[in-house]
Amino acid sequence: MEAVSIDNHVVDRRAIDPAVVLDGVSRSFGDRVILDGLDLMIDEGEFVVILGHSGTGKSTLLRILAGLDQEFSGRFLAPSQRSIAFQEPRLVPWRRVLPNVTLGLNGDTAQALGREALDEVGLGTHLRAWPNTLSGGEAQRVALARAMVRMPDLLLLDEPFGALDALTRVQMQELLMELCAKHRPTVVLVTHDVEEAVLLADRLLVLDGGRFILDQRVTLPRPRLRTAPDVQRIRADVLRALGVFDERSEPS
Ligand SMILES: Nc1ncnc2c1ncn2[C@@H]1O[C@H](COP(=O)(O)OP(=O)(O)OP(=O)(O)O)[C@@H](O)[C@H]1O
Ligand SMILES: [Mg+2]
Repeated sequence: MEAVSIDNHVVDRRAIDPAVVLDGVSRSFGDRVILDGLDLMIDEGEFVVILGHSGTGKSTLLRILAGLDQEFSGRFLAPSQRSIAFQEPRLVPWRRVLPNVTLGLNGDTAQALGREALDEVGLGTHLRAWPNTLSGGEAQRVALARAMVRMPDLLLLDEPFGALDALTRVQMQELLMELCAKHRPTVVLVTHDVEEAVLLADRLLVLDGGRFILDQRVTLPRPRLRTAPDVQRIRADVLRALGVFDERSEPS
């Protein structure tokens, strides 16, 4: 494996098999241990969803995987081509949509790649729009295009649909599945929506007390119906792992 070492953070040049390896990854803030020696292997192309109560360290883990936080102990391996998107689209307000997508991309093909990515998220006609004229769902599509245009081997999504209305959310879930079926990145998505997790995941992880307390593969065929008994059964398992027993309530 051709790998570059940056401190305790080893990044492979190309996607590796498995795509992501965590080896005793820990992160503390002051004397509070948030991540407590996480070990994990994620296969190339796997769609992993992480759930957990608020404050259990999901965003902390994603930031480490994105290379945005070097203050951890342990080691991890991840593809060098990584993109991250957040709950809020984080568009640059003084740049139009296309330059927001191509921000930081160099080379003659950047514009064409940006257009293609926007086409793929259904915003091919909004290239020259300003961010403040977009709906919440459109802005999040732009954020997704910005993540996908880098052709990531690892796509990191931190509650990407958390701020969207229920209908837009379903559309965005479908769009994400289409993009993933086409480009096959390895995905790590964080959500509080257990049903969303079961609909999307190849594998569900629940983070609690600094460790993964549930690691469950979801082999149900796609597309999955939220009303399907198998989906509801797995949803109930996850809620139980989260310590939530009320049938329809979701964790905070
Ligand atoms: N830079 C920081 N300095 C101090 N404490 C931090 C810092 N970043 C995160 N924390 C703390 O670490 C814990 C985990 O934070 P994190 O944002 O990873 O939680 P989370 O699981 O993503 O929560 P949520 O579901 O609410 O987004 C929280 O208690 C948070 O206050
Ligand atoms: Mg978070």
